[in-house]
Amino acid sequence: MSKKNVTSRRAVIQASLGAGLGLAGLSSLFIAGGLRPKKEITPESEPIKEGDTFVIAQGPDKGKPVTLDTLPLGGPFVLAWPMDPKTKVVKSGERNNLSMIIRFNPDEYDAETKKNSDQGVIVYSAICTHLGCTVSDWLADQKIFLCPCHKGLYDPRQGAKVVGGPPPRPLPMLVTKVSGGKVVAGSGFLSPVGPVGALARNKAQV
Ligand code: FES
Repeated sequence: MSKKNVTSRRAVIQASLGAGLGLAGLSSLFIAGGLRPKKEITPESEPIKEGDTFVIAQGPDKGKPVTLDTLPLGGPFVLAWPMDPKTKVVKSGERNNLSMIIRFNPDEYDAETKKNSDQGVIVYSAICTHLGCTVSDWLADQKIFLCPCHKGLYDPRQGAKVVGGPPPRPLPMLVTKVSGGKVVAGSGFLSPVGPVGALARNKAQV
């Protein structure tokens, strides 16, 4: 066999092996994907959407509607779940729906936050953009949200921009409306909720 033929035969074998390995890799990906349990969307786990109202998520007033009266001017915030106003289903089956709602004098907001607020009320995601903990604490003297996991700090008057700690980006907000005194979603969240990219993968490993 000539040297040229040996070379081209070797090239064909290598190409076949490569294709085989590639297919095997792809198959294992498909198998892995197929084995991964599919997340079933139920009425409780539907994402937050325009028109949803909100109910208080915890404490003695759990389940009561979030209204202007439940939101003291200047904070603190209220943790809340969205609720479908027609079916009255509370969408607490999807953690990414957990929201924090706060009210300030609109003149204290930056332009973007003011634009998306109504009567001083603005709704943010309560899921930290660092590794996904619940942003559950309130620094009353500074009027800042605190994520207790790694001390991430967010300023609710500036679009929940990060003012301390490791979070890489602000908490998502949604267009907020107030109708008949009740807080209503005027949209879904305007940016991805929780950690994304490498941070989401890190989160999956913790
Ligand atoms: S998860 Fe919130 S600061 Fe790390």
